[in-house]
Amino acid sequence: MKKSILLVLPIFASSVFWLEAQGRAENGSDEENFLQHQTDIRVGKRLYRTKCAMCHGTTGKGDGMVSRYVFPKPRDLSHGVFKIHSTPTGSLPTDQDLFDTLTRGMPGTTMPSWANLSEQQRWQLVSYIKTLSDRFKNEIVPEPIPIGAPKPPYAESINNGRRLFIDAGCSACHGVGGKGDGPSASTLKDSWDYPIVPADLTISRNWRGGSRPQDIFRSIMVGFGGTPMPSYEFLSEDQIWDMTNYLLSIVKD
Ligand code: HEC
Ligand code: HEC
Repeated sequence: MKKSILLVLPIFASSVFWLEAQGRAENGSDEENFLQHQTDIRVGKRLYRTKCAMCHGTTGKGDGMVSRYVFPKPRDLSHGVFKIHSTPTGSLPTDQDLFDTLTRGMPGTTMPSWANLSEQQRWQLVSYIKTLSDRFKNEIVPEPIPIGAPKPPYAESINNGRRLFIDAGCSACHGVGGKGDGPSASTLKDSWDYPIVPADLTISRNWRGGSRPQDIFRSIMVGFGGTPMPSYEFLSEDQIWDMTNYLLSIVKD
C-alpha cells in the first residue's frame, strides 16, 4: 500500500509540472487541455494572491488593503468591465488584450507592468482573473475589430485630424491642444462613480491603451470601457486615421 502511494506521487507531481511547463500550448487532447487550463487557473490564483490581491482584493472586488490610498482605484474585476479591449464597444476583452494590459501595466496609475513575470505566469494570471467575473462564463468574446494599415502621416491628414478633433467633440474633454483641459474635463465620472480626468494626449508615456498608430486607432474606434471616453465607430476609418496622425503629431515625448 505504502509503496504504491510512493510510486504514484512522483508521477502525479511530474505530470503537474509538465502541464505547467506547457503554458498555453493547446495541442493536446481535449482532456489534456482541460487539465492544463485547471492547472493554469490554480497557479494563476497563487500568483494573484501574492501579487495582485493587495490592490484588487482577495475576491477581485477592487478592495485590497492598498485600495483606499490610490487614485484611480484598482479595478473591481468582478464586473468584467475593462478599459482596454480590441473587441467592439461594450464587449469583453480577448485573452491577448488582458495579457497585453498585464505586460504594459496602466501607465500613469499604480497598476504596474508585470513584464518581469514570465509569459507563462502572465497567461496563468489571465486564466485566473477571468474566473473572477461571471461575464466570462455567460458571454462570448467577439473577434477583435479589423485594423488596416495606418495612413501615412502627411500634412493633409494631420490637418484633417486637427479639424475633426474639434468637430467630433474630442476637444470638449481633451482640450483643443489635447492636454486634457477641455470645458467638460472636470465634470467626468467613470462607471464606478469615481471622478476621472481625460487623458493628456501630449504625454504618450502615460497612455494606457498603447501609443502605436494601431493602438490609438483602436482606442478611438471602440472607446475605453467603463469610462466617458466614447466609441467613434460611426466615423470612417479614414477619419480615425487622420485623428491618429494628428495625435501622434502633438505628442511631446
Ligand atoms: C499597486 C496596486 C495594484 C496592483 C499590485 C495590481 N493592480 Fe491591477 N490595477 C490597479 C489600478 C489602480 C487599476 C486601474 C487603472 C485604471 O483604471 O486606469 C488596475 C487595473 C487592472 C486591470 C484592468 C485593466 C483594464 O483594461 O481596465 C486588470 C486586468 C488588472 N489591473 C490586473 C492586475 C493583475 C493581474 C495584477 C497582479 C499581477 C494587478 N492588477 C496588480 C492597481 C494595481
Ligand atoms: C466625454 C469626454 C471625452 C470625449 C468626448 C473624448 N474623450 Fe478621449 N478620453 C476621455 C477620458 C476620460 C479618457 C481617459 C480614460 C482613462 O484613462 O481611463 C480618454 C482617453 C482617450 C485616449 C486613450 C489614451 C490612453 O491612455 O491610451 C485617446 C487616444 C482618446 N481619448 C482620444 C479621443 C479622441 C480622438 C476623441 C474624439 C474623437 C475623444 N478622445 C473624445 C474622455 C473623452
